[in-house]
Amino acid sequence: MAFSKKLKQLFFSGQKKNNWNGLINAYKPWLPVTNKTPIISLNEGGTPLIEVNSIANRIGKGVKVYVKYDGLNPTGSFKDRGMTMAISKAKEDGCEAVICASTGNTSASAAAYASKGGIKSFVIIPDGYVAQGKLAQALVYGAEILAIKGNFDKALDIVRELSEKYPITLVNSVNPYRLQGQKTAAFEIIENLGNAPDWLCIPMGNAGNISAYWMGFQEFFNANKSKKLPRMMGFQASGSAPLVEGRSISNPETIATAIRIGNPVNKEKALKAKESSNGKFSSVTDSEIIEAYKILGKEEGIFCEPASAASVAGLLKVKNDVPMNSTIVCVLTGNGLKDPDCAIKNNDAIFHTGVEAEISSITKKMGF
Ligand code: F0G
Repeated sequence: MAFSKKLKQLFFSGQKKNNWNGLINAYKPWLPVTNKTPIISLNEGGTPLIEVNSIANRIGKGVKVYVKYDGLNPTGSFKDRGMTMAISKAKEDGCEAVICASTGNTSASAAAYASKGGIKSFVIIPDGYVAQGKLAQALVYGAEILAIKGNFDKALDIVRELSEKYPITLVNSVNPYRLQGQKTAAFEIIENLGNAPDWLCIPMGNAGNISAYWMGFQEFFNANKSKKLPRMMGFQASGSAPLVEGRSISNPETIATAIRIGNPVNKEKALKAKESSNGKFSSVTDSEIIEAYKILGKEEGIFCEPASAASVAGLLKVKNDVPMNSTIVCVLTGNGLKDPDCAIKNNDAIFHTGVEAEISSITKKMGF
């Protein structure tokens, strides 16, 4: 059967999309892998860049705002980008067990990729401060979980020490392969927009992701695949803002438990990204985070976790500094389903419970 030219284009572009098989395969020449590296993948990456007019309209000035919805990765967060690399390299090196400290997403991702690669995983988490969805994932993916009486920073100290003393590979973002995998998000943004954005707004916890994005933007810029570099705009929750305040925070607190971190391990790299990109770090309050979280849900149909909404909350907070006609990307790092408790407590929905199963009671409630 002969295809028309248009149909052929549609057919083959569709095929290309369906053939996506993970970011290592998509960006091999840019990553430290060889033919000997076993690729442990769940087809991560290739996440959508979505234009969000409700945010652009709140800023005006002819700006275009997009979100990089990385909550659509296989375990629901950007961590999968780094984990496909970290676990593939661990497997290549013959490692039999991995360990991480986590506020939840790293543990979910490490557990999933370790299982896929036939490796054992241990995760150390702050007891009582990990969102339910993330905990559920680590349980189902088969990690061995140690919930400690201490925060993330303490957990990270512990896993760093354990990985030095025992034959177990650390897969937190101090593992350089993590950032290598995560830099591919910058490549995807450049390919989608045809250039780098003017600003990249991103939440910061341990500050690995901002460092990875900066590396990715620089690599594509140096290879002439983009004509500019973005300003790196990093945001932290105000109760947990060591990079904004320039000091460690011993008791970080925020509703955005993913970024409840007082002593970011990638501090130096993140400060360098800020300085060399002429960027800026600012903080947002929990109520500003929730405001952005609700706007994304109600006006855009996008459900992200509170830590992710910090990027949009931050952009709205500094909107007076946004130049005319600029293109801005906010990174939505994790899926809203990760933290159902937050969703149930923070929404403006009309929710009638215990309604009689009769048309008349229902229409009465609906105001007909
Ligand atoms: N957003 C989400 C949803 C996260 O889970 C994290 C970090 C960040 C942002 C911050 O990224 O640390 O690279 O600056 N979560 C880690 C974890 C700490 O254990 O899951 P970062």
